Amino acid sequence: MLELDGVCKTYREGDIEVHALHDVNLSLDASSFCMIVGPSGSGKSTLLNLIGALDRPTRGRVVIEGQDINLLPDRELTRFRAERIGFIFQSFNLMPVLTAYENVEYALLQTGMPKAQRRARTDELIEAVGLGAHRAHRPNQLSGGQRQRVAIARALVKRPALVLADEPTANLDSSNGRAIVALMRDMQQHFSTSFVFSTHDPMLLGHAHQVLHASDGRVTCEAPATTPMEPAAC
Ligand SMILES: Nc1ncnc2c1ncn2[C@@H]1O[C@H](COP(=O)(O)OP(=O)(O)OP(=O)(O)O)[C@@H](O)[C@H]1O
Ligand SMILES: [Mg+2]
Repeated sequence: MLELDGVCKTYREGDIEVHALHDVNLSLDASSFCMIVGPSGSGKSTLLNLIGALDRPTRGRVVIEGQDINLLPDRELTRFRAERIGFIFQSFNLMPVLTAYENVEYALLQTGMPKAQRRARTDELIEAVGLGAHRAHRPNQLSGGQRQRVAIARALVKRPALVLADEPTANLDSSNGRAIVALMRDMQQHFSTSFVFSTHDPMLLGHAHQVLHASDGRVTCEAPATTPMEPAAC
């Protein structure tokens, strides 16, 4: 479902070049739960931006569901991203004037989906993340963990092939952070979507099918021995 083949990313600022990723090769099966760990500056966000088609590699290929993202013109890349990839952010990024329900439904407004189907899909996701009783609350009436649940529902409501989250637990205390990762894993299994997320919390390692270690722009892959699930191929 996802392949990176000889991927390099170099940022240029004037005469200065930053080699953020060097020769990254990996493949991710459909329906996997993959975690990226590594110190600050190791390339985690750069990798997620490439996997999410938010940026293009300097060299190498990023292939998502058989589509080499470098071969898509900008407008088609934007459409591909909107249809096939969901994003969850560290700071939730909810719209403050919309309720929990409306924040989720909003993601479907541009799709042309009929209203009844839109409502049914939104209801399903709001219930799935355990926010049925809070659907009419605005973000400032929700806890951090509840806000991130809204963001998870919003990321999934279009039924993307892949959901990406850059440090989704960074603004939560450790028990809420663990609850959010457990919810993401439940959602990954329920909707058979792949998740890739980054974290600084080593306590979360046991949740993943596959762990990517980023270090100075190099990425190595392991299937953790602690997981009871089938390890994915790297
Ligand atoms: N837009 C950019 N322009 C120039 N350099 C960048 C840019 N984005 C990232 N970098 C550099 O690329 C390297 C990798 O950064 P990246 O943000 O991917 O690290 P990270 O692992 O996500 O770190 P953190 O854990 O702090 O979020 C760093 O040296 C960073 O300074
Ligand atoms: Mg980062």
